[in-house]
Amino acid sequence: MADAFAFDRNAPRKARYDQLDMQCLALLSDADPVANQANFAALVHMAFGWHWVGFYRVVKDELVLGPFQGPVACTRLFKDRGVCALAWARNEAVVVQDVDAFPGHVMCSAVSRSELVVPVRDAQGQVRAVFDVDSAVVADFEQEDADRLQRLIDTVAERLIDEPLPGHA
Ligand code: SME
Repeated sequence: MADAFAFDRNAPRKARYDQLDMQCLALLSDADPVANQANFAALVHMAFGWHWVGFYRVVKDELVLGPFQGPVACTRLFKDRGVCALAWARNEAVVVQDVDAFPGHVMCSAVSRSELVVPVRDAQGQVRAVFDVDSAVVADFEQEDADRLQRLIDTVAERLIDEPLPGHA
């Protein structure tokens, strides 16, 4: 099954986003959001090989670790501290070119040098999770990366989260 999903790692990043878009729609056909988050993280990791990619889920007033690819990571993140919390609070993608220059950056891995965090929103526009990407390279992300990942996540968000919010049906 995994062989059906592959990327040309020598292709320019834009072409790999195009491949990611197509493969993602084929991959996320299941109704289970945890399974889909896991495969989404794996697919993005296959496409770009970034140091760490994965989800933090909004649980009450914290962000709790979800499916990911990469080294072990912080289990919980708190409001008002770090890049993930900022993307959650702003409800918009955040690009950090140099994590050492970002006040309050939460370091889960000393290898991470730059970071991109994209909100995962429900149909009401409420942030239900964030998708976090850490690179071992300084300034690895441009606005184009934020735009492409945000567009894809907006397209498949209903497959990545429970809809409606559990307990609010
Ligand atoms: N650096 C993030 C924490 C999560 S890890 O990078 C996986 C932050 O500042 O929110």
